[in-house]
Amino acid sequence: MFIETCIAPVNIALIKYWGKRDEDLILPINDSLSMTLSTDEMCAKTTAAASDKFDKNTMWLNGEEVPFEENPRVMRCVRELKRLASLKKDPKFPIEWNLRICSKNNFPTAAGLASSAAGYACLVYTLACLYGVEDEELTSIARQGSGSACRSLYGGFVQWIMGTHDDGTDSIAVPIAPESHWPNMHVLILVVNDSKKKTASTKGMQRSVMTSDLIKHRAANCVPKRISEITDAIQTKDFNKFAEITMKDSNQFHAIALDTFPPCIYMNDVSHAISDFVHALNEAAGATKVAYTFDAGPNACLYLLKEDVPQVFRAIQSSFPSDSQGDEYLKGLPIKEEADSLLKNSTPYGENLLKYVIHTKVGTGPKMLSKEDSLIGSDGLPL
Ligand code: DP6
Repeated sequence: MFIETCIAPVNIALIKYWGKRDEDLILPINDSLSMTLSTDEMCAKTTAAASDKFDKNTMWLNGEEVPFEENPRVMRCVRELKRLASLKKDPKFPIEWNLRICSKNNFPTAAGLASSAAGYACLVYTLACLYGVEDEELTSIARQGSGSACRSLYGGFVQWIMGTHDDGTDSIAVPIAPESHWPNMHVLILVVNDSKKKTASTKGMQRSVMTSDLIKHRAANCVPKRISEITDAIQTKDFNKFAEITMKDSNQFHAIALDTFPPCIYMNDVSHAISDFVHALNEAAGATKVAYTFDAGPNACLYLLKEDVPQVFRAIQSSFPSDSQGDEYLKGLPIKEEADSLLKNSTPYGENLLKYVIHTKVGTGPKMLSKEDSLIGSDGLPL
């Protein structure tokens, strides 16, 4: 049995990917740009094994067996990696051997936190390690699992170039700055209490492309300018500019969601309260200290610099008071307690509106782990 285990990070888009020009190859209608989050706090972990003893392909996700050969996105990734492996002069093992894949997220999938991006990036990276293939084409393979997954193959700040070729060969992710470039870029994820089922991204963006006029304007006129401006802001570490572009792009993405017919509603009242809170806090501070961005769900991802984390967290605690305390409420990196709130005399938006907060920061790309970290035992079964 040949076996490898890897982890891959979550990424959160600053300039959103929304809309495809090819549904099968997953080719987008605009470039997007994201920041990779540290794998210490959140990651997907995958073990892939191949053996002549496996009578079929099997996959487990978070402890449960899930469809493998019936899942076209998984199959496309596997097929592409087998194609690369078959080009090698000395393959490690026959490519027709069946696979067993076991994958886990160390964060709640239900929290709606970009789990498919980390998951598909991890699947592709782990299979590449298993087959021993080089990584030039990996982002364009991960893209075919889930669009945003291509950006999780690098650390730091990453751009997904939409490309123009019909076969998608130039639709790839490229790193624009490593995590070491802006190491004090931190993130607070505010997980909102919400149980409503949302329209999945794949469906939602399909409907936006079919019905929204605003989406065309954004792709043609707004995104190219924003990509170049935010790249500058990242390169010069201009937080003010970085924050403004990030918030405007998130707002425009949700405007498109509303311009879709029937509309996709992702932000809820708590999300809007968080956006209001961030603007009030920035105004009180007399400088842009925090930026928000929201994906296809109500949770907020706040970007801020490390030195501002304690004061901003204090302000969150007083504006969004919660009965849960300690590590029930704050997960991830610890935060110094003694700070003053950055927002004095604020009226709380309500009790228990947030489930919990995750504190993390910019991080690196996928990593290969040792045999001890395997999710599959020597008997070929999940541990
Ligand atoms: C709002 O990558 O999940 O998070 O390609 O259909 O799998 P598919 O969609 P997906 O969409 C992500 C949308 C987003 C914005 C972003 O991450 O850029």
